[in-house]
Amino acid sequence: MTTHVLSAFAPKITRMIRADHANLLGIFHRYTADAPAATRQALADRLCVGLEIHMKLEEEVFYPALRELYPGEEVIAKSAPEHNHLHRLIARLRRMSAEDIGFDGAVLELMRSLMHHIADEETVLLPAAERVLSEHLDELGGRMRRRRFELARPRVGEIVSGVVRSTPPSTLAMVAGAFGIGLLAAALLGRREESD
Ligand SMILES: [Fe+2]
Ligand SMILES: [Fe+2]
Repeated sequence: MTTHVLSAFAPKITRMIRADHANLLGIFHRYTADAPAATRQALADRLCVGLEIHMKLEEEVFYPALRELYPGEEVIAKSAPEHNHLHRLIARLRRMSAEDIGFDGAVLELMRSLMHHIADEETVLLPAAERVLSEHLDELGGRMRRRRFELARPRVGEIVSGVVRSTPPSTLAMVAGAFGIGLLAAALLGRREESD
């Protein structure tokens, strides 16, 4: 069996985390201040739910594994307060509507903080994990994948709604036809990981 086939069944956790980051940045890159309020609201909703699930996965699976190997490491120590800050920015955004004057600013502040956090993870934590957790990356990836489906299942309606509201009808028909509407959310959440 080839390495490629094996990796399809056991994704490395670092690859899944990079894929999540790329998906979140991809959603943000579609956010423009001159888009209709409904589109900006849908994209912000997708950012919030995607980021909440991503942070929960890191908090439950990735950070504990790294903390065991690097107790006291500064970037790992910074992760919890940075996640708390991101959770607060999400909560503020959820109290607002895209019609509100401060909405764009709240989305941009969330993304500015998220980009800073992603930069730390991708330049420090992920390479460190690949150096010292190499034989555990597939197993951790499997745990993260299983937990992702548990976390996403009760939120499928919310996830699909955000995708439907922010996707042009012609593209939506093509994607739904390819995956089936029931698998749409899971496919979109993991699409970059699967397509690498
Ligand atoms: Fe994180
Ligand atoms: Fe992350």
